[in-house]
Amino acid sequence: MNITVIGTGYVGLVTGACLTQLGHSVMCIDNNHEKIELLKKGTLPIYEPHLTSLVTTAMQRKKMFFSTEISKGVTFGKVIFVTVGTPPKTSGEADLSLVEKVAIEIASSMKSYRVIVSKSTVPVETGEKIAHTIELYNKTHIPFDIVSNPEFLREGVAIHDFMHPDRIVIGASSERAKKVMREVYKKIKAPIIFTDIKSAELIKHAANSFLSLKISYINALSQICDRVGADVRQVADGMGHDKRIGRAFLDAGVGFGGSCFPKDLSAFITIADEIGYNFELLKVVQKINEEQKINFVKKIREAVWNLNEKTITVLGLAFKPNTDDIRSAPAIDIISLLLEEGATVRAYDPVAMNNAKKILGEKIVFGKTPYDSMQGSHALVVLTEWDEFKKLDMKKVKKLLHTPVIIDGRNMFDGEKLRAMGFVYKGVGC
Ligand code: UGA
Repeated sequence: MNITVIGTGYVGLVTGACLTQLGHSVMCIDNNHEKIELLKKGTLPIYEPHLTSLVTTAMQRKKMFFSTEISKGVTFGKVIFVTVGTPPKTSGEADLSLVEKVAIEIASSMKSYRVIVSKSTVPVETGEKIAHTIELYNKTHIPFDIVSNPEFLREGVAIHDFMHPDRIVIGASSERAKKVMREVYKKIKAPIIFTDIKSAELIKHAANSFLSLKISYINALSQICDRVGADVRQVADGMGHDKRIGRAFLDAGVGFGGSCFPKDLSAFITIADEIGYNFELLKVVQKINEEQKINFVKKIREAVWNLNEKTITVLGLAFKPNTDDIRSAPAIDIISLLLEEGATVRAYDPVAMNNAKKILGEKIVFGKTPYDSMQGSHALVVLTEWDEFKKLDMKKVKKLLHTPVIIDGRNMFDGEKLRAMGFVYKGVGC
């Protein structure tokens, strides 16, 4: 099938590349000329494991094309995925101006039946607004269907998540659209959940908010564990074995970050407020997430005493491993708090340093290697659980540090082992 993907951000590129793996021909559209020119040369604007090779192979096989013209895409694809950005406004509400612009352009160039699939994370009722816009701007009344097909991809493992999803959610109002969408995903072995359009839109916000809630719940428990000397990992294991609860997303740490959870929570709270429901539960989820970072800095302060004139080494800047994404990364907030208290910060991350430099610039010193960043430091602070850090030679680490203090924001090290080696070790809730 010929499929068009409008918006070559993270979701659009992963979706486009994976659809070619399912045997479809895909045209990816973006209004950013520079980006499209780079993509035509096989240069991707984002880091995602395996994505570059998928894209370049698909291009060589003439299964993936790039263009800046929506009209070309509308002629090409029977199915049109809309994956443009929906960034948060200052109010927390999602900015849907790009979605509207794309809907107008689709309407103006549509000559025969099309299925327009909203994949960007959008507020409930956006599907209705897209349909209304297309009806308004398509003067010849060409038939079309709107589908809501939320994505559940995690950065760093997005290709795997696309090809092996737990479920595919399709919000559609006609049998014709359902049939087309079944065809799109024919080769993927996963249950397809057909819903109405509004329910599908809600599922995305509901799922991300619930996962954030799980994290904030375990982070709140970590505060209790710290105060009574219990181990939050054992508590999570004990709870997680109950199938009704599940162990996933019960890892305590420095809080959730990234471009999804913080943004989607704010958007969902705003949507609820607008329709007259005060979603207090989610407001507390946000509050716990913010407090978790402040409490973590307190933990560092307790370990080294005055932060003023101390050097702290931060390992890990990305909001999670296997990505260079630092959007809403806990590391950025924690580093800012450390700097405010007068600490000198040295940092290392395997792939996110270039992005971090754009925000933190000269304020901190970036190391060439983890070891390079810890020379003479008063404490080593771990904020992203990269595999590379698990392999550190801890004897060497101890020699390099001025004082052997490790504060592990991701509970990735074996505290007992490190304490036996003479480190002062503190985890989160353990
Ligand atoms: C998240 C969802 O997991 C995806 O299903 C969804 O498609 C995506 O948002 C999106 O809306 O596009 P992602 O933001 O890539 O994916 O990352 P996650 O793996 O979910 O992690 C989010 C944050 O939670 C990270 O900062 C991570 O460190 C933190 N986290 C996760 C914890 O602190 N504890 C946990 O137990 C799990």
